[in-house]
Amino acid sequence: MLSQEENEWLARVGPGTPAGQLLRRYWHVVGAASELSNEKPKKRVKVLGEDLVLFRDRRGTYGLVGEHCSHRGASLYYGFVEEDGIRCAYHGWKYDLCGKCLEQPFESPETGFKAKISHPAYPVAKLSGLLFAYMGPPEKKPLLPKWDVLVRQDGVKKVDICEVLRCNWLQAMENSVDPTHTYYLHSHTLKLKGNPDHVPFHYQQLSKIEFELVVEPTWAGIQKQRVFAGDDVPVEAPHPLIFPNILFVPVRMGYAMHFRTPIDDFNTQVLQFRFAPTKDGSVAPQPEDVPVEFVGTKNAGGEFHLDNFASQDHMAWETQGPIADRAREHLGESDRGIIMFRKLLRDQIHAVQTGDDPIGINRDPAKDEVIRLIPKGYTAYSHAAEA
Ligand code: FES
Ligand SMILES: [Fe+2]
Repeated sequence: MLSQEENEWLARVGPGTPAGQLLRRYWHVVGAASELSNEKPKKRVKVLGEDLVLFRDRRGTYGLVGEHCSHRGASLYYGFVEEDGIRCAYHGWKYDLCGKCLEQPFESPETGFKAKISHPAYPVAKLSGLLFAYMGPPEKKPLLPKWDVLVRQDGVKKVDICEVLRCNWLQAMENSVDPTHTYYLHSHTLKLKGNPDHVPFHYQQLSKIEFELVVEPTWAGIQKQRVFAGDDVPVEAPHPLIFPNILFVPVRMGYAMHFRTPIDDFNTQVLQFRFAPTKDGSVAPQPEDVPVEFVGTKNAGGEFHLDNFASQDHMAWETQGPIADRAREHLGESDRGIIMFRKLLRDQIHAVQTGDDPIGINRDPAKDEVIRLIPKGYTAYSHAAEA
């Protein structure tokens, strides 16, 4: 249980909020490259409470700028994407990828007015078809982590963009250290729906759950593992919640990384990157911009259809409320992962507030190695944790 004050302190993400300041110290997925094309080189996005426009200029470089023009606030989403920037459709002010104002067509150049304009802009990096943005202080910018399933070529990649989650990001993250939820929410639900494939892996009694804080030079998080009761039962591969807002999980076809990017305090964009390794380790030919699929979680009537894991999870998270009321909860022994995550989050917010780096960021190129998330001795396919 938390006080209302502490609940808000941990959950809210806007500029200047404690958790928002922490989250701004990490790279976040803001879209997939295949969402942008020459025909439609821009997308309106809201990230950490800020209205932004993601675009690809005519040279193929990605930018993320404040949506509202620094002149008089018209939306740059309706702007013209040009060779080296984006031009507002209202009076033609043009900005480059760094937010520098390049042109003000109806101002006298000798006034030097455009040099005084600094439009909000954030760096964007593309990795394996995902577009990551960094919205923190420029001098604190970490290197973009090289997650192994993103950089590997020996597998088929796919991106599932989930229907917007209408609640705060922290509910999704607490679920990633809540390993008991899979029994009823996923397997039991599917079984009662008559689904012959109700993922029996999750329909087993647990004997214990292990949690371990992992702090590496390039990432940090909480590694967890379910140990099932009985002899001769499958052993689940340990897999981490990657601090602050990613889940890495073995799935039937291989592995998935679930990125939960806060849109604002009450909405979250979940994007699932899926990697199915080839059995013989051969390179899998595929387009540079990983294909994207939209995953709906609700039916036409606006209710959760509960037909897949995403819909089941979103039901549980959204129905906790726009921001879960943690002053009214009753945590038990099985919730100790949640308590551990909240402590970690609290500690890292304090670290940023006192001028330290939070855990799991790296600015040293010498340490910038591929981050192997699959523990040695475990393989895909045999430890499926999700359909
Ligand atoms: S509002 Fe954008 S140029 Fe005037
Ligand atoms: Fe789940």
